[in-house]
Amino acid sequence: MRSIHDLETPVVLVDLDVLERNITRMAERARACGVRLRPHAKTHKVIEVGRRQIAAGATGLALAKPSEAEVFAEAGFDDLFIAYPVVGADKARRLLALAGRLRRLAVGVDSVEGASTLASAFREARRRLDVMLKIDTGLHRVGVLPERALETARRLADLPGLRLRGIFTHAGHGYGEPTPDGVAQVARHEGRTMAAVAEELRGAGIAIEEVSVGSTPTAREAMAQAGVTECRPGNYVYHDGSQVALGTCAPADCAMTVLATVVSVPASDRAVVDAGSKTLSTDPLRPNANGYGQIVGRRSRLQRMSEEHGVVVVEGGDSFRVGERVRILPNHACVVSNLHDRIVGIRGESVETELKVAARGRVE
Ligand SMILES: Cc1ncc(COP(=O)(O)O)c(C=O)c1O
Repeated sequence: MRSIHDLETPVVLVDLDVLERNITRMAERARACGVRLRPHAKTHKVIEVGRRQIAAGATGLALAKPSEAEVFAEAGFDDLFIAYPVVGADKARRLLALAGRLRRLAVGVDSVEGASTLASAFREARRRLDVMLKIDTGLHRVGVLPERALETARRLADLPGLRLRGIFTHAGHGYGEPTPDGVAQVARHEGRTMAAVAEELRGAGIAIEEVSVGSTPTAREAMAQAGVTECRPGNYVYHDGSQVALGTCAPADCAMTVLATVVSVPASDRAVVDAGSKTLSTDPLRPNANGYGQIVGRRSRLQRMSEEHGVVVVEGGDSFRVGERVRILPNHACVVSNLHDRIVGIRGESVETELKVAARGRVE
């Protein structure tokens, strides 16, 4: 059996024992809360990882884009939610084709203007598309504010060609909270706000079947709030340096590392590895920026990046030599997935499998 020492670098490693444990734990948590789990597959974009999530009890997957959903539909997944405001006639045509292949499809909307194009395409084809109205519970990215939800939901419910399945939110602002208590507060607010909006809409005669929340830092608390029916964490399959810094997980829960080679030690306080921004991205550490990746088992971090160079500032007690291999814990696992064609599944130091990042680069 091959070992990680036989691999060319840089390469993305995924510890399969940790991955499987992360998948099982989140599935158990959802089951204990009586909530459906719909993992966001944009984190991994790997068919086999999605299959493991379904086998552990997930009802379906969430994706960010129609083109990502197409890859999973092609592989036989039959219940997908595109958790993004899908807008435009070209996208509507794509969704029609996708809907024809799936048992269940839903897409995100946050405006009547955006939803109208989808509604026309589906009405003309004598079909109906399930939509989920995005609610802004504090991230202030997309979504309608809770106080505007009823007005928008009423107009959506009137559009022929669409069926309003429910509401969804993503409390990504939890990533900016400096303490685990702060994250938990964001999570409770996320769940409770969504439950209150759902009740308001139902009170006005609008059927709301799904109340969907979720990000990895807020998932555990948000899904425990009464009235929440679905949770969509993504990053939890791998975790990363930011999840450790936020207190979401322990370092031992991080499944993804990048294996790199030290290519230069030009000064006693500096080493350079063959993993730069092309390999790790330049996403900052959350909640407090601090370099671009932690060298596993050492104190030093990558503090400067160019495309093919990762510059390690050597911290007291650490030393590096040319040719040495190091493992790097990335700040943000999801963006690393999108930079690589394949990941290598390992157990301990043994290479077990190589998996294609099938939906990589699917941005449309
Ligand atoms: C709409 C939406 N839902 C769910 C998620 C999953 O969040 P996380 O990766 O924190 O688990 C994301 C991630 O960006 C998202 O944008």
